[in-house]
Amino acid sequence: MTTAAIILAAGRGERAGGELPKQWCMLAGRPVVAYALDAFRRAGLAPILLVIRPEDTPRARALLSEAVETVSGGETRAQSVRNGLEALAGRGIERVLIHDGARPLVSAALIARVREGLEHAPGAAPALPVSDALWLGAEGRVEAAVPRAGLFRAQTPQGFDYAAIRAAHRRQSEDAADDVEIALAAGLDVRIVEGDEDNIKLTWPVDFARAERIIGGAAMDVRAGSGYDVHRFGPGEAVTLCGVTIAHERALEGHSDADVGMHALTDAIYGALAEGDIGRHFPPGEERWKNAASDIFLEHAAARMRARGFALTSADVTLICETPKIAPHAEAMRRRLAAILDVETSRVSVKATTSEGLGFTGRKEGIAAMASVTLVAQ
Ligand code: CTP
Ligand code: MG
Repeated sequence: MTTAAIILAAGRGERAGGELPKQWCMLAGRPVVAYALDAFRRAGLAPILLVIRPEDTPRARALLSEAVETVSGGETRAQSVRNGLEALAGRGIERVLIHDGARPLVSAALIARVREGLEHAPGAAPALPVSDALWLGAEGRVEAAVPRAGLFRAQTPQGFDYAAIRAAHRRQSEDAADDVEIALAAGLDVRIVEGDEDNIKLTWPVDFARAERIIGGAAMDVRAGSGYDVHRFGPGEAVTLCGVTIAHERALEGHSDADVGMHALTDAIYGALAEGDIGRHFPPGEERWKNAASDIFLEHAAARMRARGFALTSADVTLICETPKIAPHAEAMRRRLAAILDVETSRVSVKATTSEGLGFTGRKEGIAAMASVTLVAQ
């Protein structure tokens, strides 16, 4: 019995964001798509077709071996599958397993279950029963409860009799969520085999951290970041430091509210995520940041951190100035920063030092701030 595999890697990965399509991003040190390729190779399937966008050919080359060849994908998932199926024509293929390259954690046992299912029906695919309650909702409100009995969450690889699924795909030109949908439209009998909770599809940025946790290689993925900022004194009556406004005989100059402490902390978070700095996310020339409260910068960095699947475990800010005196305000600053970051105050430190009259801070020309953070993958 000749069973081929088609691994799809021609999507754009728009929901996952990032500079590269998700299937080429690194996951615990290897490109995402390498995991599925290995799993199907080890299962002894041949040939294995990797469906890619033509411009990704150089990226794919490093992963290819005698058993793996590439085919160009199409505009939709279904078109990519069709291109793969047609490329297998005339090669004596009897069965085919079609898999999302964005599911790197497919196990040998799951592949075996799908193949076993194909002994009994022209289609077999893994799925898990829905266990959470289901709602229909819109605009943040629940509109109705949906009965979940008999509902399944579909996964891949989905296995089929080769001639039957090729005929089904030839009959349908629209896109579909998966190949079972196309098989059903053609009247094929598809058997459900037990899916695997770990066989997740990388869809959103946060899924990468989850997959790395499952792989185990990144159970202790800790990131550290540091930030530094300076603002000069100018005329005025108050300064805002770490979100707290303090009466002072000078003010800090800057495009926003010049909160040097909050800027250093924000940059430390961007640094830990390797996502540049405030200037990259909030270009300084733009009118709308003029006199803006710096909360928006810190909130943005914290939102990026959460979207990437990280939690802040510690933040430490040091303000460097002769005046004003920071100690009486340090507690309020810690509380304010913790509230913006949505963490316990005990994880946030604010301290200060003078520079013994030396340098620009010693001459009271301005205030400098340093910050460091640690983030841990959730
Ligand atoms: N896929 C493909 N060709 C397409 C679209 C999708 O080969 N034209 C593949 C993807 O590379 C992925 C799988 O189909 O392995 C499942 O699709 P999905 O998770 O939707 O991936 P993307 O389409 O890349 O992501 P998004 O929808 O967020 O843009
Ligand atoms: Mg898609």
